[in-house]
Amino acid sequence: MSRKALIAANWKMYKTPAEGQAFVEAFLPLVAGHTRDEIALFPSPVLLPTVTAACNASNVAVGGTHTLIGHSERRQYFAETDEIVNKKLHTALKHGIVPIVCVGEVLAEREAGKTASVLQTQVTGAFVGITPEAAAPIVIAYEPVWAIGTGKTATPEIAVDAHKIIRAEVAKLLGANVAAAIRILYGGSVKPDNATALIGQEEIDGALVGGASLKPDSFAAIVKY
Ligand code: PGA
Repeated sequence: MSRKALIAANWKMYKTPAEGQAFVEAFLPLVAGHTRDEIALFPSPVLLPTVTAACNASNVAVGGTHTLIGHSERRQYFAETDEIVNKKLHTALKHGIVPIVCVGEVLAEREAGKTASVLQTQVTGAFVGITPEAAAPIVIAYEPVWAIGTGKTATPEIAVDAHKIIRAEVAKLLGANVAAAIRILYGGSVKPDNATALIGQEEIDGALVGGASLKPDSFAAIVKY
């Protein structure tokens, strides 16, 4: 089954509304007519009105219609547990918002050989009470915590292995059809020069990009990997 890639910009708390507006004005012409991939921007809540208006009637979606859940910084600094991730996932689906559920191991877990069990626990915890019928809009992002904002990217092999573990867990919970259709993005120091090697993998259905999404030309280069 072919899955349309989704390339998403995670701006976190960066940018003022004026900077968000300037980004969109520079970015839209760079990706005009680009339909191979879905494109989404996740600005901070204060930027939502400006960025949503600026992207109106374009090929770029904005967080608010999509939402990030369980990002490692939320798990780490705001005690977002698997239980809270699960509640947010149900709420997003109820309101027709496309959820991107982030999972990923920290370095100590990887070094202790616990990557598979951490990912399985996070996926299982997130999906409690989700039926195969309700699961269609859900996107998962695999973000190894040791690769976020560190400049250390997972190799395509490491990312593909993790994606296979996640997809197998989804198959166990929701069946083979949902697992074959669900998009799993990779995130963690994605840059223009490593985007093709990562997103080009059959198992990798797009990217969640932090630092390299803040400049229009660098994010456009990733979109056009
Ligand atoms: P990064 O961030 O691309 O700067 O590593 C990714 C993320 O936090 O989603």
